Amino acid sequence: MLTTSKQLFEKAQKGHYAVGAFNTSDLEITRAIIAAAVKLNAPAIIQISEKAIAYAGLENLADIVKNEAKHAKVPIVLHLDHGRNLKLVHECLEEGFTSVMFDGSNLTLPENEILTAKAVEMAHRKKIFCEGELGTIGNSKNESDFTDPSLVKDYLKKTKVDSLAVSIGSRHATKIKALNIDLLKKIRKLTNTPLVLHGASGVPDEEVRKAVAAGICKVNIDTDIRHTFSETIHGINKKYADLSDPRDIMAKVMADIQAVVEEKIKLFGSDGKG
Ligand code: G3H
Ligand code: ZN
Repeated sequence: MLTTSKQLFEKAQKGHYAVGAFNTSDLEITRAIIAAAVKLNAPAIIQISEKAIAYAGLENLADIVKNEAKHAKVPIVLHLDHGRNLKLVHECLEEGFTSVMFDGSNLTLPENEILTAKAVEMAHRKKIFCEGELGTIGNSKNESDFTDPSLVKDYLKKTKVDSLAVSIGSRHATKIKALNIDLLKKIRKLTNTPLVLHGASGVPDEEVRKAVAAGICKVNIDTDIRHTFSETIHGINKKYADLSDPRDIMAKVMADIQAVVEEKIKLFGSDGKG
């Protein structure tokens, strides 16, 4: 069923596990994510980025997730990932998203705080949670982009975000060796606000486990899903030369993505928590 993230985060924090947030851009990825969540009785956040919206259309993609979630026997959240402008946040809320993110990490700190606070206000009017970002996750290797713990309390007070994306060493679509778990622990001591790990495809499993144990309660996965999609398509001729019906090809793609999502759900400890 389609749900908001409030209870999901409360349960995850009490249970010391994280909810997986998986990016979709079409029917097949959405179905694969939901199939994995249902099979493992896990909650799941299905998130849509600006690029996915440009690809599939906001209404189309939101309708796919809402329709598929309606029939699922586990809680599914429809989330806007890295929304960079208030107009888009507004459109997603009107479209029935049950969670949004405003990402002002490319702005100055005061601008980030002002616009994030506005996004939070818009979301709260509809009783929806809003995620913010402090520090920059992006693709940079620069430690100065890490979340500065001395800014956390003030940022949370000014913006009233319901969850916080922290920059602790992971980077989008990039393999890294280790997270800064000490920094994460420092931030955790400052707040009970649910913390979010972005760029998790490139983080070694052991580091993800440590991050969840240290208080991360939402973990974002996009690249691993997209790579699995492409690898399956590229390998189709070699492995299944007899397949020509696109629906049969997509069944293989969905099965492979489902397997990846199942692995992640187990890694985050959210299996059996649906
Ligand atoms: O917002 C989405 C993510 O942070 C996904 O990161 O592409 O490294 O899996 P990833
Ligand atoms: Zn991200």
